[in-house]
Amino acid sequence: MKTANSIDALRKARAKLRGSVGFVPTMGALHEGHVSLMRRAVKENKHAAVSIFVNPSQFGPSEDLAKYPRTLKQDFALCKKAGVDLVFTPTSEMMYPSGFDSWVEVVELSKPLCGEFRPGHFKGVATIVCKLFNLVQPTRAYFGRKDAQQLAVLTRMVADLNMPLEIVPCETVRESDGLAMSSRNRYLSPAERERALCISRALREVERLYAKGERDAGHLTSVLEAALGAEMDEVQYADIRKLSDLSEFSDKINAPALAAVAGYVGSTRLIDNVVLGQSGKAARK
Ligand code: PAF
Repeated sequence: MKTANSIDALRKARAKLRGSVGFVPTMGALHEGHVSLMRRAVKENKHAAVSIFVNPSQFGPSEDLAKYPRTLKQDFALCKKAGVDLVFTPTSEMMYPSGFDSWVEVVELSKPLCGEFRPGHFKGVATIVCKLFNLVQPTRAYFGRKDAQQLAVLTRMVADLNMPLEIVPCETVRESDGLAMSSRNRYLSPAERERALCISRALREVERLYAKGERDAGHLTSVLEAALGAEMDEVQYADIRKLSDLSEFSDKINAPALAAVAGYVGSTRLIDNVVLGQSGKAARK
């Protein structure tokens, strides 16, 4: 496995890769969710590349940039074990040199849900992922469905800006008790982790009701809110949106939907979702 810690080294290493390249952009602190993306990139392409970069422009001023977990040594070991060929680890100065002044914004899709609580977040994500795509020039890029809005924003960006690659959505990987894997789970105390299980439980209940025929978006939203309110310290949103454009349903769910949740357990912000009305793995234990 080759590692590149500068743009120059990355360009040289990339030029040597012939055939398709599967790419997994990450912020490190890799877990089984990332491993499943890397395995898929390895399996479906001639080569696989990973980037590890904690992107400052997607963190708000009061967010956890400084304390975001950094576990580079273990990350390299996981990449190697998964069969990755190339790992890119730039610094902030390389990605945002002095005078940097160009941003990518997917306007409407960035507004609801997390966008309301994290202003500028998706502009930071779209900009860094666009830069990484320009550098790595992947054939396919792999993203988890847990970050459903990020996936929607990046899919739109690739289509709107005619980027020559395929975005591959991958199912959310869960712990055996249902908790969606996240680099931030390591912040949870054992008691908080127990409380965090209310999220996947609430989403499962919504799936169950939907499978039984419930189509009232307002009712399903109130089921979500009730199940989360008792256990979470702050529910930022619990919402049912159209999967296609994240807009609201006026009444009945009549198209594939995203049931999505975000909020805090202790000081840890967690998100999760399930898709209703389209094949895809459920929030099952
Ligand atoms: O999902 C993430 O880890 C990040 O948002 C990403 C896509 C690597 C961009 O920094």
